[in-house]
Amino acid sequence: MTTGTRTPAESIDEEKLDELVGTTVNDLGGAVQAALAEIGDRLGLYRAIADAGPLTSVELAERTDTAERYVREWLRAQAAGGYVTYDPETERYSLSPEQRAVLADEDSPAFMLGGFQGMNTVLADVQDDIEAAFRTGDGVGWHEHHPELFPATERFFKPGYAASLVSEWLPSLEGVDTKLKNGARVADVGCGYGATTILMAEGYPDSTFVGIDYHDHSIEMARERANEAGVGDRVDFEVATAEEYNGTKYDLVTIFDAFHDMGDPVSVAAHVRETLSDDGTLMLIEPYANDRVENNLNPVGRVFYGFSTMFCTPNSLDQGGNPALGAQAGEERLREVVTEGGFTRFRRAAETPFNLVLEVRP
Ligand SMILES: C[S@@+](CC[C@H](N)C(=O)[O-])C[C@H]1O[C@@H](n2cnc3c(N)ncnc32)[C@H](O)[C@@H]1O
Repeated sequence: MTTGTRTPAESIDEEKLDELVGTTVNDLGGAVQAALAEIGDRLGLYRAIADAGPLTSVELAERTDTAERYVREWLRAQAAGGYVTYDPETERYSLSPEQRAVLADEDSPAFMLGGFQGMNTVLADVQDDIEAAFRTGDGVGWHEHHPELFPATERFFKPGYAASLVSEWLPSLEGVDTKLKNGARVADVGCGYGATTILMAEGYPDSTFVGIDYHDHSIEMARERANEAGVGDRVDFEVATAEEYNGTKYDLVTIFDAFHDMGDPVSVAAHVRETLSDDGTLMLIEPYANDRVENNLNPVGRVFYGFSTMFCTPNSLDQGGNPALGAQAGEERLREVVTEGGFTRFRRAAETPFNLVLEVRP
């Protein structure tokens, strides 16, 4: 008797089945949480609980000028997911210090709401194009995405940069902190909205900075951000590709979470080498990854492989994809690529659970 594609009952391990069903239930909750977290962020629900909690649903609705029945359901979903804490005695909801750091403190390195910002909109907007690209192998450029992707990327990455870039990552590079303090020239390639360019300019007032990105809208916003931050006089921005940007004899070139997105990373490395002084440094900040696939099969690797499928790899393929590194390239693969581009020294200078900080030198 044929059973179609059904798995024979005797081959199913009930424990493993339960575990996998549990994973999918968790993921369904996570998928809807992307919408609920964004609603909570935009309506100021997390913020209000942080400021005034513990609150009942009635009190939270009053404080945020929202409809109690919706707020009640939202709170229960948040409590079920561990995003807020429920006290059954008082029927009040609050944020623990950890929940506050992740959901309500924009300055905390653990702040994660940027990750949910626009997530559903951006993914839904591009999903059909990516599905089609699975068949053709064509690329989808960064510039082709829904515009919410760009400020969301800035907000997602910025807390980590603010926590580590000036205090830990730059000082971890040989001689760079001293050069920057004395006045150095820095190019920040693939700078997006310029968060890192501005943080470095604020940290090192005697140095000058150029932020470079091929995406004209991002450069326009980076200029605005630099003026708002009061560093517009020491920070320039240029619309250019990483393969062709202007300038020579930079003391430091930085590439934050963008090298693996580029379609011809060997040529990028070669161009960086040409624009760098002989004792200069390339600092590559890449998503944390191990060299072997099996060692990236964990929650952080999952998020990065997911983003890589939807954003990073399509962008590389749009630019030729030779090679399309993907967001989990790993240190050894990155070393090979920059060595091919003409660099001779390479070392892991620092790391966080989310980032590798790589020092690359001529
Ligand atoms: C994931 S975003 C990171 C932005 C920013 N560095 C940050 O960490 O927030 C990748 C950036 O690389 C830029 N990019 C991609 N390919 C590029 C290329 N070939 N030349 C210059 N910029 C590029 C994109 O426009 C985008 O701003």
